[in-house]
Amino acid sequence: MSQPLLTLDFLDTPAAPTAADHQPAQEVRVSPATRTGRQRKLYIESYGCQMNFSDSEIVSSILFEEGFDTTEQLSDADLVLLNTCSIREKAEQTVRMRLSQINSHKKRNPGLLVGVLGCMAERLKSKFLEEEKLVDLVVGPDAYRDLPNLIREVDGGQKAVNVLLSRDETYADITPVRLNSNGITAFVSIMRGCDNMCSFCVVPFTRGRERSRDAHSIVQECRDLVAQGYKEVTLLGQNVDSYKWTSEDGLEFVNFAQLLERVALISPELRVRFSTSHPKDITDEVLYTMGKYENICKYIHLPAQSGNSRVLKLMNRTYDRPWYEERVQAIRRILGEDCAISTDMISGFCSETEEEHLETLSLIDFVQYDMGYNFFYSERPGTLAARKLADDVPLDVKKRRLQEVIDRQQLHARARYARMVGRVHRVLVEGRSKRSEEQLSGRNSQNQVVIFPKGTAQKGDYVNVLVTSTTGAALLGEIVSQDSGY
Ligand code: SAH
Ligand code: SF4
Ligand code: F3S
Repeated sequence: MSQPLLTLDFLDTPAAPTAADHQPAQEVRVSPATRTGRQRKLYIESYGCQMNFSDSEIVSSILFEEGFDTTEQLSDADLVLLNTCSIREKAEQTVRMRLSQINSHKKRNPGLLVGVLGCMAERLKSKFLEEEKLVDLVVGPDAYRDLPNLIREVDGGQKAVNVLLSRDETYADITPVRLNSNGITAFVSIMRGCDNMCSFCVVPFTRGRERSRDAHSIVQECRDLVAQGYKEVTLLGQNVDSYKWTSEDGLEFVNFAQLLERVALISPELRVRFSTSHPKDITDEVLYTMGKYENICKYIHLPAQSGNSRVLKLMNRTYDRPWYEERVQAIRRILGEDCAISTDMISGFCSETEEEHLETLSLIDFVQYDMGYNFFYSERPGTLAARKLADDVPLDVKKRRLQEVIDRQQLHARARYARMVGRVHRVLVEGRSKRSEEQLSGRNSQNQVVIFPKGTAQKGDYVNVLVTSTTGAALLGEIVSQDSGY
């Protein structure tokens, strides 16, 4: 997904993970400060996926109404919240380690309240309070509206837990406090939960049933963002292609392609992205809609997980390799070679053989992915795979296979960057480049990073950049003209 605004590496966590542990590195975000003079200070740190980062903005909005400003300094906080992830064991270990640091801080500041939110809260429920004695508050992803009450209970000296999952909560009416934003790009949550039950995955247990948010509230939120000067929205869900919403009177039905179109029509100055697409659900209608509107970015995150049909069946992904290949061909047919495609792959899933692993490599060659988020299999308690299948690929084999997946994928990523050289790309300027004050950075439609001398351009402008070279991970070039939008 997109660039983090603020990524922290803790000084006292173990050495940075190698590429073979996971890729990309576990991201952590600390919400930046709001300084509106509210009485209490909330420090909120978020782990995991964009959904969590987006939820932290909803939580901040709820607590803002309750008299909390956010702070970037743990030492200033009255309330610390960790918005946690359970997707792999490593993600949970990172949170445990962070909790032990926060607990030693709490010993020196006994008035500090500590809460755990998100997927780990949902998975462990009140067990968290037994395991981590200094945690005061455990709140699952569908219970954030209850935070003010729960904090009152904690203020009264109790511990508080709410991990009820909901069939209809979408926080549609809550305007997020845009904490994770550069003022140009924003995330808009369009659905919650997941009904897919992939056998390796904890998300259906931690996030509950799939539900789609009211289409009008999504469009309104995007309109408001445009009015505030935002230029790009990313529509978020675990499986956006299964978005479906029916109005209460039953007269209006909106599927994902139609929602995408409504958002694209808001303004030619607004770019639209979305994530994640499930290969079983992405339709030609979605692809044609992408082709119809230039301001819908030509980038699809289409996680394959494996290139072998037997493994895909064990994973309960409900498609096989020919199906996946056909969807990729449909993307190429309808949107052309330039449309970027990225994947997630899991190496060393239960009983995966060497030949099956080689099929994952051959799928990578077939698709020529622009980007990949690759992991080795990590058994999650309670999932179908944990209950029914043996986690029998040795760790060193998992890591070796993962490294081969990463290496193969990077070959193609470099080639995909190289083929962009010599062409003009429309880039939305997101800010200064990390390399130099004199350079700006942004992304093209394909989500590739583009860096160029700033000239007279500013953050939020659309510029046309002639790309002259590539580092293999970014495109370098110079501005040839400026545009007001699409
Ligand atoms: N909804 C998205 C995935 C969300 S989780 C989809 O279906 O594509 C993000 C990624 O984490 C997954 O795509 C998968 O590659 C990885 N993942 C999930 N569970 C995992 C596990 N138990 N071990 C290793 N990787 C896992
Ligand atoms: Fe997990 Fe599968 Fe749902 Fe993605 S689609 S969140 S991998 S269960
Ligand atoms: Fe992690 Fe939950 Fe997202 S498990 S990846 S934070 S949905």
